[in-house]
Parts: sequence; structure tokens; C-alpha cells
Amino acid sequence: MQGITEAPFRNLFDAHFGGVETYYTPFVRLEHDGIRRKDLRDLDPERNHVAALVPQLLAGSPEEAETLLSQVVPMGYRHIDLNLGCAFPAVARKGKGCGLLPHPERVEALLQVTERHPELSFSVKMRLGYEDPAECLSLLPALNAARLTHVTVHARTGKQQYGGTCDHPAFKRFAESCIHPTVYNGDIATSVDCARLAAEMPFLAGVMIGRALAATPWLAAEYRDGAAWDGAKRQSRMKDFHADLFDHYARTLEGGEKQLLAKMKSFWEYLLPDADRKLRKRIHKAQTAPAYADAVSALLCATP
Ligand SMILES: Cc1cc2nc3c(=O)[nH]c(=O)nc-3n(C[C@H](O)[C@H](O)[C@H](O)COP(=O)(O)O)c2cc1C
Repeated sequence: MQGITEAPFRNLFDAHFGGVETYYTPFVRLEHDGIRRKDLRDLDPERNHVAALVPQLLAGSPEEAETLLSQVVPMGYRHIDLNLGCAFPAVARKGKGCGLLPHPERVEALLQVTERHPELSFSVKMRLGYEDPAECLSLLPALNAARLTHVTVHARTGKQQYGGTCDHPAFKRFAESCIHPTVYNGDIATSVDCARLAAEMPFLAGVMIGRALAATPWLAAEYRDGAAWDGAKRQSRMKDFHADLFDHYARTLEGGEKQLLAKMKSFWEYLLPDADRKLRKRIHKAQTAPAYADAVSALLCATP
């Protein structure tokens, strides 16, 4: 998730919660013919301590994909995920992310990188379509002809953004005809949801989870453990995770208290959405580090 699951978050998440088999970076794109320095730093293997990390690339053409690969592969990565799902209007309008989905010929051209790089393995992350959930079916010839380890589908269209409901029947129709292992993504909120999906779609190769892991970071660990964590365990892990995240950014951000608070508050856009509304508001209103620390402490103590 852009802006949230950067290296420090991934590392600390994994250390305090875990349960995730593979982490995917937020998409990396070209800006003025190269990858932003900030994104290259985030991919630096020295800064990443999770066992399995996959760089995700956002390219609109095979040429762009080659340029991105030329900067990412020398870092040592051998598996690459291609983003065909980003629904930011500025991205889609440029024919990237989900903007590629109505164009099977462009998808086919992009996926030729999988043939040109036999030394690498590739996967795709996509949506059902840009406007129409049946678009994914027209992409099957290109996807099935490409050398992919798996295809992850967020079961919405790009036009839906994050609204409406996920379309399970459309996902199943796609998965039935996709020769690659399929991974489901979209609106998994609890470990019970994971189990329900696994029962509903026994053919799944896995699930990808976004917002719910940024909201309740113990979700995947609970699924792995086969049991819910008790309130005390959730609370103590959250306190330690938050304290380490805060310490990291207090040490590394150079923009002072204002930048530190803005960064920390960005995590609270997702973290613990069911916590007391007034306490969440206090965090967002905090203007100094001590006021922020008091607000977080009050919320975490009150949230089992
Ligand atoms: C703030 C934000 C940033 C995201 N950034 C990315 C991204 O860089 N790459 C990607 O494949 N998906 C990205 N997504 C989409 C998620 O990976 C996921 O497909 C979507 O949120 C639906 O899954 P969920 O219901 O589990 O969150 C982002 C989502 C959000 C909310």
C-alpha cells in the first residue's frame, strides 16, 4: 500500500505480528525516466528484513518495464510483480495500472517481458476490469500465454475504486479459465473471512490482504495460529509495534516534529478503525509529539 507499507512498516510488522508469507512493495514507477530515489531506498535489500519481498512495478509498456527492471534486478530481486490494477485516475488515464485492462493487445505486449527474462519469475496483480468485470476474460489469452507464477485479482473494477462490493462470481469465472494459480484479493477483514474464502474457493493459491492488515495487524498471525489472539496480546504487540515505528521515524525523518506527526498520523488512517472515535480524533488533532504520545497511549490502553 502506497505510503503505508514501506520498508520500516514491513520490517516491524513482520517482527511484531507476522503470519504473512510474502510481502509486496507498493508499486514502483518511472518518474522522469528513472525510479524515484525514495523508492530505490525502500527496495534496498539492506533496509529490508522480511524473508520474502516482491518488488511491484507499474509499467504501461514493455519499454517502461525494461527500464524499471534495469534498476530493480541488479539489487538481487528474482521475482517481479506487475501492477495491472492501480485505480488512481492519474495512473489509469495514462494507460497504466487498471487503465491497461480494456486493451488486451497492450497487456500482451507488456507480458512479453516474461519471455525476455527467463532468469526472472513474474506474477500479475490486477482488477476484474477497468469499467466492466468481464474485461478480465478478454485478457485470458494474453495472461495464459505468459510465463507467470500466479495472478492476483482484486475482485472489483477500476471504476469502482474501493466502493461497492467485491464480485465473487466474476472472480470465479476468471479463475476457472486462468491456467495460472489464482490469488484472491478484496475486503478480507478478519481471519474468519480468510477461512470462509478458502472454503468457498478451494482452488485458491492464496489470498492477498491490504487494508485489513494495516487496520488489525494481527489478522494473518491469527489465521496462521488457527486461533484469535486475546486482547492483552493484541494490545501489547500493538504498543511495541507502534513504539518501534515511532522511534524509527523520530530517528530518520529530517523534517522535525511536524513531519514525524504527519507520518505517524498517516498510519492512523487505517490502524484500529473500530477504536473509540473520540480517541482516534485526539490522535489526528495532536500538534506536538507529547500530545500525540498521550493520545496514542490513551487509545491503546482503552482498546483490547
Ligand atoms: C492507500 C492504498 C494504497 C495502495 N497501494 C497499492 C499498490 O501500490 N499496489 C497494489 O497492487 N495495490 C495497492 N493498493 C490496493 C490493495 O493492494 C488492494 O488491492 C485493495 O486495497 C483491496 O484489498 P483490501 O480490501 O484487502 O484492502 C492500495 C490500496 C490502498 C488503500
